[in-house]
Amino acid sequence: MQKKIIVINGPNLNLIGSREPEVYGTVTLAEIAAAVIEEAQRLGMEADFIQTNHEGEIIDKIHEARRKYDLIILNPGAYTHYSIAIRDAVKAAELPCIEVHLSNIHAREEFRSKSVIAPVCTGQISGFGANSYIIALKAAAMMLS
Ligand code: DQA
Repeated sequence: MQKKIIVINGPNLNLIGSREPEVYGTVTLAEIAAAVIEEAQRLGMEADFIQTNHEGEIIDKIHEARRKYDLIILNPGAYTHYSIAIRDAVKAAELPCIEVHLSNIHAREEFRSKSVIAPVCTGQISGFGANSYIIALKAAAMMLS
C-alpha cells in the first residue's frame, strides 16, 4: 500500500519567502508544499502539507497522524526549542518523525542549538533551506521501503 506522510509546519513559517530572507531564503511555503507533494509522488508516496501558528493544533495533528500516516516530517519553528508538549505528542504518536529546519539551528543563536524535540525523532535535517524538506522525504522513502 502507498505510504502516507504528513508534513507539519509550526509558527511563522507561513511568512517564509519574505521573513528574514537572508536566513530562510526567498522560497515561499506554498512553493515548498508544491515541491514536496510532487517529490513524494515521484518517490511513490503521498504527502499532506500543513502549517499552523498554534501549538495545540500541532499536537492535535500529531495525534491524528497516529492513525492516518506512516511518518511525520516536522518543522516545529520556535517550538523546537521549548515545547515539551510537542515532544510528548511525538513520543506518544509512536511513528517515525523527521525534524526539519530551513536554517542550520546549530550555527545561529545559542538558544536555537537546543532542540527538545530531536531526542524523540528518528533524526534531524537542518540547514539546507527548502531542500531540507526534500532530503527529509528521501530519508522517509528509504525508511519506509
Ligand atoms: C526554524 C528555526 C527556528 O529556530 C525558528 O524559530 C523558525 C524556523 C527553521 O526552519 O530554520 O521559526 O525552524
